[in-house]
Amino acid sequence: MTPPFETALSGKHVVIVGGGSGMGRATAQLAASLGARVTIASRNADRLATVAAEIGAEPAPVDMTDEAGVRAWAAGLGAVDHLVISASSAAHGGFADLPTDDLRAMFEAKFTGPYVTTREVLPHLANGGSITLFSGVLSRRPSVGTTGLGAVNAAVEALAKGLAVELAGKARVNCISPGMVATEAYAAMPEADREGMYAQVGASLPVGRVGAPEEVAQAAIMAMTNGYLTGTVLDVDGGHLVKA
Ligand SMILES: NC(=O)c1ccc[n+]([C@@H]2O[C@H](COP(=O)([O-])OP(=O)(O)OC[C@H]3O[C@@H](n4cnc5c(N)ncnc54)[C@H](OP(=O)(O)O)[C@@H]3O)[C@@H](O)[C@H]2O)c1
Repeated sequence: MTPPFETALSGKHVVIVGGGSGMGRATAQLAASLGARVTIASRNADRLATVAAEIGAEPAPVDMTDEAGVRAWAAGLGAVDHLVISASSAAHGGFADLPTDDLRAMFEAKFTGPYVTTREVLPHLANGGSITLFSGVLSRRPSVGTTGLGAVNAAVEALAKGLAVELAGKARVNCISPGMVATEAYAAMPEADREGMYAQVGASLPVGRVGAPEEVAQAAIMAMTNGYLTGTVLDVDGGHLVKA
C-alpha cells in the first residue's frame, strides 16, 4: 500500500538529473522539504553547487551523453530510491530545415542520455523504487516546427511504458508530460518575447495560463510515491491536449 503522502519520502534517496533548474529544481526542493535526501545532477557544476546549497541537496555533476562518465557517476551515488530525469535539450525547426546534427544531438540529450542513465542507475536502485522520465505535449499534440521534438517525446513515453513492464516487481516507471511551463528553458529569449509567448499560449489553454515548475513538481512526487502508478504518462499541461 502507498504510505501517507507526507511521510512517503522521509529518509529516501531521490536523485534528480536536471535538478539544477526548472521543474527538476522544483521537484528537488519539494522532495527535500518532505524529508528526502536529494542529489541533483546536470553538467554545470557551479550552478549545481549554488542550487544545492539553496535547497538543501547534494550536487553530483554528470553529462548524460558521456556513457563512461554516467557509469562512474552512478556507481558513486550509493543506493537510490527514486530516479527522476528532467534534463534535456530541445531543438526546434521545420522538418526540412532542422539540421540533422541538431536532431541527433536532441535524441542524444533527451532519449539516449536518459536511457543510458536509467540503465546505469538500475543496479543501485532499491527494490520498490521508482523512475520518472519527462516528455512533453508535442508527442501527441504537434505544432509546425516541432516534429523532431514531438518524436523524441514519443520515444521517451514509449521507453517509460516498456520499462514499466520490463522492471515489474523491481521498480515503477512513469513519464510526466508537461505543457508549457515557465522555466529557465526559455531564459535565452528576450523578456518581452518570452512574456508574449506565455500570454499567447496561456490564453489558448483551458486554465488560462502557462504552468509553474512547482505544479509539475507535485506530479513528480506523486509518481515517486504512489505505489499503484506505473506505465503512465501523466499530463500536467493546463489542458493542452484537450484545448480547441
Ligand atoms: N519548460 C517547458 O515548457 C517544457 C514543456 C514540455 C516539456 N518540457 C520538458 O520537461 C523537462 C524539464 O524541462 P525544464 O524546462 O524544467 O528544463 P530546464 O530548466 O531547461 O532544465 C533542463 C536541465 O537539463 C540539464 N541538461 C541538459 N543536457 C544535459 C545533459 N546532457 N546531461 C545532464 N544534464 C543536462 C541542464 O543543466 P546543465 O546545463 O547544467 O547540464 C538543465 O538544468 C524537459 O525534458 C523538457 O524537455 C518542458
